[in-house]
Amino acid sequence: MKIAVLPGDGIGPEIVAQAVKVIDALRSDGLAIEMEYAHIGGAGYDAAGDPFPAVTEKLAKEADAVLLGAVGGYQYDNLPRPQRPEQGLLRIRKGLGLFANLRPAMVYPELVYASSLKPELVSGLDIMILRELTGDIYFGQPRGIRTLDSGERQGFDTMHYSESEIRRVAHVGFQIAMKRNKKMCSVDKANVLDTSMFWREIVTDVAKEYPQVELSHMYVDNAAMQLVRAPKQFDVILTGNIFGDILSDEASMLTGSIGMLPSASLDANNKGLYEPCHGSAPDIAGKDIANPLATILSVAMMMRYTFANDEVAQRIETAVRKTLQQGLRTGDIAEAGMHKIGTTAMGDAVVAAL
Ligand code: IPM
Ligand code: MG
Repeated sequence: MKIAVLPGDGIGPEIVAQAVKVIDALRSDGLAIEMEYAHIGGAGYDAAGDPFPAVTEKLAKEADAVLLGAVGGYQYDNLPRPQRPEQGLLRIRKGLGLFANLRPAMVYPELVYASSLKPELVSGLDIMILRELTGDIYFGQPRGIRTLDSGERQGFDTMHYSESEIRRVAHVGFQIAMKRNKKMCSVDKANVLDTSMFWREIVTDVAKEYPQVELSHMYVDNAAMQLVRAPKQFDVILTGNIFGDILSDEASMLTGSIGMLPSASLDANNKGLYEPCHGSAPDIAGKDIANPLATILSVAMMMRYTFANDEVAQRIETAVRKTLQQGLRTGDIAEAGMHKIGTTAMGDAVVAAL
């Protein structure tokens, strides 16, 4: 197994270092894993003047899986768009065809109190958000800032989804639902957007191939409300790129901290990029206080989805559970009376539990 490791910016290098410790522990147990590092985001810009340098692209394409930390930092905020760190992320997603983004929102019993919602609303919560990742208004052309005939300036973007893009992600959604509680809610804005009307039509058509899955549709504004009103009504949420971006951040808070949320971005052959859902958090970078668990749990997802090794995936997840049961907490999930530890100590604790 060859993993491309792209730590990126901000807290990226610190949290990835903890995940790498976990991988190293698995290696010393005999798992054949090779790792090679490269730059992405601001680190790519610093090293090569490009947030997605050619060497990084080559490595990512050759590897079986990619482990990514996070991109972005204040010092890059005023660069022209093509050089900005986020472009590195968007280009690696697009370039590798990683159209299926799995963002599970699970509430650990140990962290129920950390949620912003009442315990009875979130305890036992287990949602899988499937976000389409390589289409939508994120990549639609034309886009830009133009001057109208009237002389007024105007910003514009284009939202579109082609049938094949919707079909392939819908299939992934139904297949995930088949392995879970067989319920899928497709989220769109079909009461206003033509793109969404089409999305709904195609998802409904794909559903015919999965008669055991109960499919429902919901408008995105209602879904945003339902997620904080009664989140346990959801099993799999299937949605487009921009709605998924927003809803997955919202769902993360139900679990107590965005520092707990892993993700997998898969291509048609289950090759994947694995990254925490949170960003580079430059305000806390280098302080050894960031929560590395989302990144460590992303390695578990890598074992499950790309390397089809459920046993190792579960071993990592159990180790994370054990550290939480021991009362160990990084600041974002700590409560009075808990043993507050830093990034490195949390990584060490997970390795010990492994
Ligand atoms: C995410 C992030 C990215 C996105 C940004 C950093 C480009 O918010 O992974 O959710 O919008 O997809
Ligand atoms: Mg986001």
